[in-house]
Amino acid sequence: MPKMLNESAQPAGEALLELRKLRVSFNDGRGGEVVRGIDLAMEEGETLGLVGESGSGKTVTALTIAGLLSENLVTVSGEIIFGGKDLLKCSRSELRALQGRDIGMIFQEPMTSLDPLMRIGFQVEEPLRLHTKLPYRERRKKALEVMGLVDLPEPSETYRKFPHQLSGGQRQRAMIASAFITHPKLLILDEPTTALDVTVQKQILDLLRTLNERHSVGLLFISHDLRVVRHICRKVAVMYQGEIVEYGDTAQVFSNPQHEYTQRLVAAVSAGRRVYD
Ligand SMILES: Nc1ncnc2c1ncn2[C@@H]1O[C@H](COP(=O)(O)OP(=O)(O)O)[C@@H](O)[C@H]1O
Ligand SMILES: [Mg+2]
Repeated sequence: MPKMLNESAQPAGEALLELRKLRVSFNDGRGGEVVRGIDLAMEEGETLGLVGESGSGKTVTALTIAGLLSENLVTVSGEIIFGGKDLLKCSRSELRALQGRDIGMIFQEPMTSLDPLMRIGFQVEEPLRLHTKLPYRERRKKALEVMGLVDLPEPSETYRKFPHQLSGGQRQRAMIASAFITHPKLLILDEPTTALDVTVQKQILDLLRTLNERHSVGLLFISHDLRVVRHICRKVAVMYQGEIVEYGDTAQVFSNPQHEYTQRLVAAVSAGRRVYD
């Protein structure tokens, strides 16, 4: 395991991630800001839900934190403090280490980036190839370990399989294994269970909860579905048209929503309706 850059500088309980006046606009000539000055903080090992309707800026926020939007595409200002450093001021090599290794990112199936032509094991190991010098045997050993950790059946067989030989839930477990193989401090999950049926969705949420509890990885959990967030997140932030309009303990926000948009979301959940984005 590579040593985490921020291992000693970051005692438990300190901020893991802090967004300060984060602004993002696309350089597409229209000049509109899609993330409009948001402030948000997460402690180590915290579970924070980011909810909001389609187009409110959740994915852009996630991709910006993970450093996955190119400078040509967007203009970003403000601060993203992670592991005590402002990611917007880091050198490329620092960024590679922090964003690729200490932050894991998981997307919705089937838009996720599992390559249909590559074996599962090879893809689970990818972050180790990028961020460590571990030889093949060590990488394989760690991949089998983490595949067991996420409850993939018979890791050494699954290792050799191709994505189409796995169920949707197993593919999402493989994605989680890959994101978790470097033992990141933060997992950003963008609608990770939206494409899965309800039973599988619950199993994946339970897995994420276990990873959070046993390995104290922080979860930034993005969803348009408030029920999912309630199941897994202690805190919730509500995003509306590029701004955070509400933030607090999930139970509190649920029982006493302040913003009109949140009230509508909560009312829809209480009425048992599914809130599509
Ligand atoms: N590549 C892009 N170019 C221009 N605008 C974009 C691009 N991607 C997203 N947007 C705009 O940014 C806003 C926020 O999008 P997004 O973060 O994907 O919303 P959410 O994830 O909350 O549904 C939307 O208005 C969307 O149209
Ligand atoms: Mg989105």
